Amino acid sequence: MKGQETPKRALEIAAAGGHNLLMSGPPGSGKSLLASCLPSILPPLEPSEALEVSMIASGAGTLEGGKLKRRRPFRDPHHSASMPALVGGGLKVRPGEISLAHLGVLFLDELPEFQRATLDSLRQPLETGTVSVARANAHLSFPARVQLVAAMNPCRCGHLGDAARACSRAPRCAADYQARISGPLLDRIDLHVEVAAVSAMDLTLPPPAEGSAEVAERVARARAVQAARYGEAGARTNAEASAEAIEAHAAPDEAGARLLAEAAGAMHLSARAYHRVLKVARTIADLAAAETVGRIHIAEALPYRHQPPRA
Ligand SMILES: Nc1ncnc2c1ncn2[C@@H]1O[C@H](COP(=O)(O)OP(=O)(O)O)[C@@H](O)[C@H]1O
Ligand SMILES: [Mg+2]
Repeated sequence: MKGQETPKRALEIAAAGGHNLLMSGPPGSGKSLLASCLPSILPPLEPSEALEVSMIASGAGTLEGGKLKRRRPFRDPHHSASMPALVGGGLKVRPGEISLAHLGVLFLDELPEFQRATLDSLRQPLETGTVSVARANAHLSFPARVQLVAAMNPCRCGHLGDAARACSRAPRCAADYQARISGPLLDRIDLHVEVAAVSAMDLTLPPPAEGSAEVAERVARARAVQAARYGEAGARTNAEASAEAIEAHAAPDEAGARLLAEAAGAMHLSARAYHRVLKVARTIADLAAAETVGRIHIAEALPYRHQPPRA
């Protein structure tokens, strides 16, 4: 992966803190390629996690060779996928993609092209980490603790922002296109990042100095800090931490608190959004091995907050 330093950094933060991520950018800018890099920087499954993942895979009949795998699952269902295919169910109840991605990554490419009802059915499992499927006489539940990674073009034709190629309805078309994703779903995505088109020049650059292995090492260190911090509290990552835990462990220093208060006013942050910014800032501080969340961490976290398009 050449260039794209900002999206790569967002991917590292997402991996380190278990945050959901949305990438937006024109076709061919490398969104799908970036998403496919995520498993290479995530820590391997713990043995007990590997067992959980294998049990789901065997229930779905997708366990290959019957061997436990240490690599986190990466599932990328097509946008034409039905609701039962995504969340589970059907006549002969089977776990859906969100359960097959348990403890790994669920990648939804071309997010606005998914059925709106299907996307909305993901909200509950994203919040609780389990999905329940209603049957005639019973409810079945499957585990579904996933990290959601989504990608989208900024508008239907994909060329918003490129004056030479944008359609005649820009920028109105972008607002319409983005409105296909519900606010509550967007609200659950901590990191929003723009992926700009790469120029031919960028592609002639030498390969990046840092490879996945170095990033994976930083991610693993940041994850170890989080596991020790939340301990028995159930959460393993900053993304999973409760509001109380975040207030206890991510309270920023004075300068950080001032910046966050100013931004909360200017960006009209809801209470939920406020906590989500703090979670991302906590992860950024963990990557830097910083004890306290400072102004610099808040400043890096804020631009990742989703802002509705200005039409
Ligand atoms: N920064 C980059 N470095 C190397 N190859 C890239 C880069 N960006 C895009 N590509 C290549 O361009 C093609 C299109 O990328 P893709 O990830 O499919 O774009 P998108 O999903 O944004 O439409 C892929 O074959 C990918 O390998
Ligand atoms: Mg793509």
